Amino acid sequence: MSREPSIPATGDAVSGRERSSPAVMEPARFRRIMGHYPTGVTIVTAVDRDGTPVGLTANSVTSVSLDPPLVLVCVSEKSSSLGAILANGAFAVNILGVGAALTAVRFAEGRRKDRFEDVAFAVKEGGGPVLEGAVAWMTCGLYRTFEAGDHVILVGQVNDGEAAGGDPLVFVRGRYENLTTGGDPFGSRHGDGVPQRAEGR
Ligand SMILES: Cc1cc2nc3c(=O)[nH]c(=O)nc-3n(C[C@H](O)[C@H](O)[C@H](O)COP(=O)(O)O)c2cc1C
Repeated sequence: MSREPSIPATGDAVSGRERSSPAVMEPARFRRIMGHYPTGVTIVTAVDRDGTPVGLTANSVTSVSLDPPLVLVCVSEKSSSLGAILANGAFAVNILGVGAALTAVRFAEGRRKDRFEDVAFAVKEGGGPVLEGAVAWMTCGLYRTFEAGDHVILVGQVNDGEAAGGDPLVFVRGRYENLTTGGDPFGSRHGDGVPQRAEGR
């Protein structure tokens, strides 16, 4: 798939140059550390020039700004979906529910051409395919892109979306988890003065 058009905008590196430290952690260790940071699991989708749906499993999705509503996802420069997302100038983020781990596995497997086979979806204008059964979804216009290491940070301006509800799938320490069957999130420290409710987000 063509990688054109090229990335439209790039953020300035710190102090106008790439900042590097003399010691750089090896990727496997970095991955193990970041694995302790639980995330949701999404399928980021778009359509290519022929209208063919593309999509990949992504857990690097983060909200950036409320006004305007911006969301980011970091996509590998090796991703076969990246070219279509850039060319389309729009993408959709599908947040998966607890029963959808097999969908996550399917959309993470390399060189699979049949990711959308037997998957019910509707292509939303100004976005990409929205998967039936997603607990929430957003469509986004491409707002900015930034090259960062071996990934491209795609910042999308959210133009539509819905939270259908349901329990989200969670990914932590390299595993898919169902946190809804977990215990008290405040553990043994419950009631000892630790704030019980998250402020802000
Ligand atoms: C839980 C999980 C999260 C992932 N998150 C990302 C991500 O945020 N960005 C990314 O580029 N790849 C991510 N991947 C890997 C891609 O899903 C995988 O490389 C996929 O084959 C890429 O497909 P494509 O090359 O067709 O775009 C993730 C994989 C898993 C299992």
